[in-house]
Amino acid sequence: MINIEFDKIDFDSRLKVECPATVANMVCGFDILGMALNDPCDIVEMNLSKEPGIRILHADEFDLPTDPVKNVAGAALLDLLHACDKQVGIDITITKQIKPGSGLGSSAASSAGAVVAANILLGKPFSNLDLVRFAMAGEKVASGVKHADNIAPCIMGGVTLIRSIFPLDIIQLSAPMLYVAVVHPQIEVRTSDARQILRKEVLLKDAIRQWGNIAGLVTGLLQGDFDLIGRSLEDVIIEPVRSILIPGFDEVKRLSNEAGALGGGISGSGPSIFMLCRNHANAESIALIMREIYDKLGIDCKTYVTTLNERGVRVA
Ligand code: HSE
Repeated sequence: MINIEFDKIDFDSRLKVECPATVANMVCGFDILGMALNDPCDIVEMNLSKEPGIRILHADEFDLPTDPVKNVAGAALLDLLHACDKQVGIDITITKQIKPGSGLGSSAASSAGAVVAANILLGKPFSNLDLVRFAMAGEKVASGVKHADNIAPCIMGGVTLIRSIFPLDIIQLSAPMLYVAVVHPQIEVRTSDARQILRKEVLLKDAIRQWGNIAGLVTGLLQGDFDLIGRSLEDVIIEPVRSILIPGFDEVKRLSNEAGALGGGISGSGPSIFMLCRNHANAESIALIMREIYDKLGIDCKTYVTTLNERGVRVA
C-alpha cells in the first residue's frame, strides 16, 4: 500500500502526456514481444482533485465509455488507486488519435498514459512494473485478457520482452534504429474475436520453428543484425489463422518484401499491418505500395511512416 501525502500534491497542476501506438507480437512473439512507435499517439490530460472519483472526458469522435469500470483508462486508474492508502480524485481527458480496433495498441495507449500521468502527479510512488500491472486491468476490459505486450513498450519505450506475466518479468531489449511502414485498412478487428479464433493447441514442429524465430529476432535486435531480424519475422502459428480476417494481407506482405522491407506482419491482433525497414526512403515506398493495394481493393486505409519510439509515454 502506497502512502499518499496530500500536502505534497499540487492539485492545481494539469499534466499532458503523449502515449505512443505499439506493435504487439512483432510477428513471431505472440503476447511476449512489443515495440513502441513514434506515430500515431494518444493524448491524455489529467489533474488530481480532493473530490474522490474518476471523471473521464473524451475529446474525440469514438464515443468510448466514460464509466471508469468500463473504460480502459478508468479500470487502470481504479487498480492504481486501490494500491494507495488515501483516495484522491482524478479528472482525465483522453484524445485518441489511435483508432480503437486498429491493432496499434489503442487501449494500451489510454490505460498506460493514464497510469503514467497519475504516477507523475502523485510524485512517482510506483515503479514501471507497478504501472504495467495497473494498466493491464485496462487490457482485461478491452479484450478479456491481461496481456502486456502493448502496455510494456507503451510505458517503457523501445522493444520489450514479456518473459512472464505471473509474476511480471519484463526485459527491455536494445534495438537498432528501425523504420516502420504501417497500413491500417479501415475495417475493425476486435482483439477478443481475433483471440477467440486461435487454435488452443500447437504442433511441436510449429512450436520449434516459432522458438527459433523468437530467439533469432531477439538476437538480431540485440546485435543490430538486420538480415537476422528479417529472417526471423515469420509466424507459423498465429498469422495463418488471423490473416484471413485481413483483406490484402498476403499481397501487402509479398510486395513489401519484394520492395526491400526486412519483413513484418499483423500488428497486434490486426487489421493493421507493419513492415520493418532499414531506412526512411524504403519505409516511404512501402507505405505507397500498401496504399495502392487497398485503393485497388476499394478499402479506405491510413498509412504511417514512422520509427521505433525509445521513450514511451512522455510529458508533452
Ligand atoms: N498479443 C495480443 C494479441 C495483442 O495478439 O491478441 C493485442 O493487441
